[in-house]
Amino acid sequence: MEELRDRILKEGHALNEAVLKVDSFLNHKVDPKLMYEIGTNFKKYFENRGITKVFTIESSGIAPAVMTAMQMNLPMVILKKQASKVLNDDFYQTIVHSFTKGSDYQLTLSKKYISKDDNILIIDDFLANGEASLGAIRLVEECGAKVSGIGIVIEKSFQPGREVLEKRGYDVYSLARIKKLGKDLIEFIK
Ligand code: G4P
Repeated sequence: MEELRDRILKEGHALNEAVLKVDSFLNHKVDPKLMYEIGTNFKKYFENRGITKVFTIESSGIAPAVMTAMQMNLPMVILKKQASKVLNDDFYQTIVHSFTKGSDYQLTLSKKYISKDDNILIIDDFLANGEASLGAIRLVEECGAKVSGIGIVIEKSFQPGREVLEKRGYDVYSLARIKKLGKDLIEFIK
């Protein structure tokens, strides 16, 4: 998505060789018009697949996910992060390890918001190691529902997330794919 790549080049900066800061339009301040275009793009790619719900992981996935859900006329569900296990049969939970943040959390989904007939589209802001997406997949599949696609705003293609997900048979569609990060350097896969 050219508009997104231009914005990353203009406003993004690499903290180091692994982390890209995009606080001015995605992770802190949010540009609703850009999010709308992102939603349009995901809709174009994922429509006609019988998707029934859009799932995302709090918090930075919410803006692109809600725009995608609105454009596809579908409900959107936020997978919540909790520090500890909820001792209650009303929820699905799984532990996710974040390599970027060096911590674990419990990804949590109320059983009320999924059924085994659902076809889920997962939308998230970043794909790094794929751990958050794998956690979301575990929750969906525990219920017997299906993941029909994964839409990512910014993929760090030099990290293993895409390969891990594709090896398991999931369709990963990313709007910007970053080949390399470094001092004053942001390079995309065309
Ligand atoms: P993974 O799911 O692909 O394995 O990624 P990882 O756990 O390593 O990433 C954990 C968190 O760090 C996620 O945010 C993710 O969006 C964010 N992240 C990963 N790489 C980058 C990066 O290069 N730049 C920025 N800005 N963020 C990155 P989170 O913990 O879910 O927090 P939130 O922002 O959604 O609240």
